[in-house]
Amino acid sequence: MPKITVVTREGEEKTIEAEAGLSLMEIIRDNGFDELLALCGGCCSCATCHVHVDPAFADKLTAMTDDENDLLDSSDHRNEYSRLSCQINFGEELDGLKVIIAPED
Ligand code: FES
Repeated sequence: MPKITVVTREGEEKTIEAEAGLSLMEIIRDNGFDELLALCGGCCSCATCHVHVDPAFADKLTAMTDDENDLLDSSDHRNEYSRLSCQINFGEELDGLKVIIAPED
């Protein structure tokens, strides 16, 4: 099974197995990373699933929609690697992806 590495806000790294077909948010949340709140459940309306993604995978990620872009603008911690993890569909091509959970707004 493909794997991803998640870096917590405290800088702790953990590599977990990731199931293709789920969103990145679901994979992170279901592996017990409580700091990724994902309050809206993946409806692209809360921005509490904000992560910074490994630039090496930028061209393999699900394209960003205008809604996601607008919502990310509300975060003080947006940078060029920011994504809402609920908007990224995980697939085998993302095996080895590293994501950092963004600081809380
Ligand atoms: Fe709310 Fe991603 S879970 S925007």
